[in-house]
Amino acid sequence: MKVAILFDKSEKLHTTNWSMAWIEYCKNNNIDYEIVNPYKNEVLAKLISFDIVLWHYSNYSFKDMLMAKNILFSLEEQGIQVFPSFKDCWHFDDKLAETYLLESIKAPIPRTFYFYSHESLNVNIDKLSFPIIAKLRNGSGSHNVKLIRSKKELLLYSKKMFTSGLSSAPSLLYKASSNIKSSKNLKTFVKRAKRIPEFLRSLFNAKKFNVEKGYVFLQEFIPNNGFDLKIVVVGDKLSFIGRNIREGEFRASGGGDLFYDKEYVTQEVIDTAFETSKLLGFKCMGYDYVINSKTGKANIIEISYGFSHEALLKAGGYFDQNGNWYDEPLNTPFEIIENMLMDEKVN
Ligand SMILES: Nc1ncnc2c1ncn2[C@@H]1O[C@H](COP(=O)(O)OP(=O)(O)O)[C@@H](O)[C@H]1O
Ligand SMILES: [Mg+2]
Repeated sequence: MKVAILFDKSEKLHTTNWSMAWIEYCKNNNIDYEIVNPYKNEVLAKLISFDIVLWHYSNYSFKDMLMAKNILFSLEEQGIQVFPSFKDCWHFDDKLAETYLLESIKAPIPRTFYFYSHESLNVNIDKLSFPIIAKLRNGSGSHNVKLIRSKKELLLYSKKMFTSGLSSAPSLLYKASSNIKSSKNLKTFVKRAKRIPEFLRSLFNAKKFNVEKGYVFLQEFIPNNGFDLKIVVVGDKLSFIGRNIREGEFRASGGGDLFYDKEYVTQEVIDTAFETSKLLGFKCMGYDYVINSKTGKANIIEISYGFSHEALLKAGGYFDQNGNWYDEPLNTPFEIIENMLMDEKVN
């Protein structure tokens, strides 16, 4: 049994990367592992001799987004167990792809509209109600998610998307101001300020991303009670991160103001998240849920295989499918590799 963990040792890993946790797991459990640089020539010839290949690739790395799937899917085609698998990530960082996928199983998502020409949007504009959410396909941390308040504003947005387009690079100003606002004390503030260079590095990488254009992707605005939930399902375990929205607006993701009251995780959330992961065959999935403050309904607003596993550990435990809680922190990277090793034994 041989495990490959993919990253380039000469590059600084993002603090939320899972590679170090995978290495720790392999060391603790005497598993034969090797760190392999995925950006080198003839990497396929090397990786083909492994049983399990793990790569926590990032949406903020231009080169990862360019070639990670090519490598992972080629290996999977040859019967090698990879994470993330095709099912976990063919739609990663593409909210349009995620939407089609979630629609195919009638998952509980907000009403969604996608237009591929300004004319079709114009013809259908009276069917929309405002405010409405417009999102670029890609990005994270709320950078590319906007509230649109009127037809006029939407038409302007649409004109832009069907002409010069919008840059999907994250904004330093928005990130910095969210970090400062959500720091409750000096210690948190200093800790967050120290991460700005890391953010700048991602920003530098992200700047290479294409301008987004040629579509308008809209979601019904779900009124919230001041928070959203990151729900994570790995195998038969589920855990969560509560995220308060930023002061004076509707967006939670990337704001950094977290909470862990498990009463907010309803059985409806537990059932729909497990059901979605089961139907779509996900090894590991992070779901963003917004609970409608008027109806109480739980809506999945986006999915993504990657997230901060350290923030998830702080929940201090996990739910099973019946909604029973266990006081044992859910270590996502450990859980993923453990489940894959188990599969390897069975097959
Ligand atoms: N349809 C929606 N209705 C209400 N709030 C939303 C909706 N979609 C997103 N949000 C809010 O905006 C934030 C960012 O949206 P999300 O789609 O998760 O993008 P990102 O990839 O940037 O995390 C979410 O954390 C949530 O608080
Ligand atoms: Mg999100």
